[in-house]
Amino acid sequence: MKASELKKKYLKFFKKKQHAIIESASLIPEHDPTVLFTTAGMHPLVPFLAGQPHPLGKRLADVQKCIRTGDIDEVGDPSHLTFFEMLGNWSLGDYFKKQAIEWSYEFLTKELKFDPKKISVTCFAGDKDAEKDDESAQTWKSLGIPEERIYFLPKKDNWWGPAGETGPCGPDTEMFIDTGKRQCSPECKPGCSCGKYFEIWNDVFMEYNKKKDGTYEKLKQKNVDTGMGVERTAAMLQGKDNVYETKLFQPIFKEIKQLAKLKNLTEQQNKSARIIADHMRAATFILGDERKITPSNVDQGYILRRFIRRAIRHGRLLNIKGDLCRPLAKIIIHIHSNDYPELKNNRKFIMDELLKEEKKFSKTLEKGLKEFKKIAEQGDISGKDAFLLYQSYGFPIEMIIELANEKNINVDEKGFKKEYEHHQEISKKGAEKRFKGGLSESSKATAKLHTATHLLGEALRKVLNDPDIKQKGSNITSERLRYDFNFDRALTDKEIKAVEDEVNKQIQAGLEIKKQEMKLDKALESGAQSEFGAKYPEKVWVYSIKNYSKEICMGPHVNNTKELGHFKIKKEKSSAAGIRRIKAVLE
Ligand code: SER
Repeated sequence: MKASELKKKYLKFFKKKQHAIIESASLIPEHDPTVLFTTAGMHPLVPFLAGQPHPLGKRLADVQKCIRTGDIDEVGDPSHLTFFEMLGNWSLGDYFKKQAIEWSYEFLTKELKFDPKKISVTCFAGDKDAEKDDESAQTWKSLGIPEERIYFLPKKDNWWGPAGETGPCGPDTEMFIDTGKRQCSPECKPGCSCGKYFEIWNDVFMEYNKKKDGTYEKLKQKNVDTGMGVERTAAMLQGKDNVYETKLFQPIFKEIKQLAKLKNLTEQQNKSARIIADHMRAATFILGDERKITPSNVDQGYILRRFIRRAIRHGRLLNIKGDLCRPLAKIIIHIHSNDYPELKNNRKFIMDELLKEEKKFSKTLEKGLKEFKKIAEQGDISGKDAFLLYQSYGFPIEMIIELANEKNINVDEKGFKKEYEHHQEISKKGAEKRFKGGLSESSKATAKLHTATHLLGEALRKVLNDPDIKQKGSNITSERLRYDFNFDRALTDKEIKAVEDEVNKQIQAGLEIKKQEMKLDKALESGAQSEFGAKYPEKVWVYSIKNYSKEICMGPHVNNTKELGHFKIKKEKSSAAGIRRIKAVLE
């Protein structure tokens, strides 16, 4: 079965079980400053798992594009990818363990026709934070999975989330397909990485919220969050023991071999080809996202740069000297553009950016590799030398470490960081922090900032006298709001002051906020503001602030603007060509 058929079957199955089908959200999380990319289907749904009602109800399902940079070192093994698609179904305080597991089993055995004898499952063994998950195990047993194929594992294996440091999480039950390989040892069981047991689906029972102090509290509602890997399941359905041999990847491999003028690949070359294929998929999808990320030295742009440059370096290992990125992106766009039209719509942008980045890096790569060789001959790489390779030849630090590993030498990473900070490039440090941080908490503070964001959009249109100003992105933490909008010059101090005054005037006016449910086309017809490039479900909420503002939004918002306090703009700067960025707070 092809991946596209699997996706169709999945959505059809859960639609029949009264789930509303939602669109994949952007790869760039909108209201979560703590992570760079959407890492799971649940990620865009965090506020709804925390208790905020969703406009489409309590049962949702989708296919979500995801990026997990944490898996980058595993890329090349049978199952790990940095970019992948995740099928998911959710219960937001509706059905729970028994129903979720029964549907998972029904879908696996009746729709996908997996042999029940090949299915093993794991359940949470219990600890001081939560009890042993006997209910899940009993449900599996009642469906016919024998006890010897039900494994109880501790938190490190059978607990999912939160996506960052805080947020919704809970025990899970994972489903594995036996690939028929021999056990690598008598202890080999689901969760072992030898490739015998292939994890394809995870049902998470999210009834906990992990707090900043590391303790857990019960969420307002008991949720189900499931995630099934499209590529992994497709591999199992196509009788392959790794994701790279599926039909999704084969055209990419064919092109890599053609570019390398190689018929067969050695094990080492195959690993490089897998890295190239994975990273080019990730790069193409990041560039193809409506948020228009470009390669840079900060945040998502830095990760994008790393993907592209690492792919090019591995291309060199296969002796590919010419154009590598664009021919592969062309194939990737072709494979996925039916499901993700944004790839087709942004084709020119994707190709232009890949060309620019490949040209830039190709200029320094050869010289940088020579320099690296010279340095490496002296032994371990000092922080200063690593910084030189980074600064003068554009080698991401992770690439320097990879090169050093290949030569069995070390890199003084701490020394590199010192040099880096010394050069005041604190922005990447910021990126790292964001990886480690927790999910933003949905609180009163964020609700206030949401409302302030709507007032700000309106105030900008009014003060700058430009009705075409639109939101191009927004990001809210409990401390501040960040708002991107289209405008082609910096605001003057006078204008900034006027925008602040306008927002504060509306706050003082004590305007009421109302929420209305509407069909998307009706909402747009009614003149409600929408975010440029955002994907909305067919039914949406429109928040009106008296007669002042009307916007499509998932909320949450306060009831009256007078709850907001004093609005202050902290920063106004350029964010990309033609886009300005405002950071503001409520005092
Ligand atoms: N969030 C869980 C996972 O990523 C299930 O969707 O595995």
